[in-house]
Amino acid sequence: MTKDILEVVKERRSIRSYKEDQIKEEELETILEGGIWAPSGTNEQAWHFTVIQNKELTKEISDKTKTILSKSENEYIRKLGENEKLHIFYNAPTVILISGNEKAITPMEDTSAAVQNMLLVAESLSIGTCWIGTVASLFSDPEVGNVYREKCGIPEEYKVMHSISVGYKKIENVNPPERKKNKVNYIR
Ligand SMILES: Cc1cc2nc3c(=O)[nH]c(=O)nc-3n(C[C@H](O)[C@H](O)[C@H](O)COP(=O)(O)O)c2cc1C
Repeated sequence: MTKDILEVVKERRSIRSYKEDQIKEEELETILEGGIWAPSGTNEQAWHFTVIQNKELTKEISDKTKTILSKSENEYIRKLGENEKLHIFYNAPTVILISGNEKAITPMEDTSAAVQNMLLVAESLSIGTCWIGTVASLFSDPEVGNVYREKCGIPEEYKVMHSISVGYKKIENVNPPERKKNKVNYIR
C-alpha cells in the first residue's frame, strides 16, 4: 500500500463499471482483512461476510432485489427496480454481503465501519467498489428473504445490512461530487 490515507479517502469513488476478470485471491483477503479490523461497539465485531464469486447467483440476487424494489412506494426506489438495464451489482465479479448480528449492541454501526474500511483498502489497491444498500430489501423480504438467506448461508441471528461490489475498474474514478459547505462547527 503506497497511497497516503487521506489521498485514498479522497480518491475513492463508487465504481459502477467493472472488468470481467476476477480480482486476485490475495487482494480479496486484504480487503476482508480491512473489514475485520474495523472498530465495533464494545468490541463485539458483530459482522459476518459472505463472498459471492458466482455470476449466476449475483444476477439472480439482482433480479429478485429489483422485483422487490419495483413494488416500493418511493418513486426513486421503484424506478430503480423497473430499470431493465440495471444490474444492482453492476456485473462486478465479486460481491460481498455484510451481515450484522441483530443481538449485538451496534450491528449497523459495526458493519458500516467494516464496509468503509473495505472500500478504502480496495481503493488503496486501485480496485473498484460500490456500496450497495438496496440488497438488504431482498434478505428482509417476508416472502423470499429466507430462501436467499439459506442460499447464501447467512448465519442465524444475522441480518444482511449492506453489500459491496468489487472488481477491477473499467472506467477510472470520475470527478468527485462537490463537498457540501458549512458542515463543521468549531467550539474553542
Ligand atoms: C448506505 C449506502 C448505500 C448505498 N447504496 C447504493 C446502491 O444501492 N447503489 C449504488 O449504485 N450506490 C449506492 N451507494 C453509493 C452512493 O450513491 C455514493 O456513495 C454517493 O453517490 C457518493 O459518491 P462516491 O461514493 O463516488 O463518493 C450507497 C452508499 C451508501 C453510503
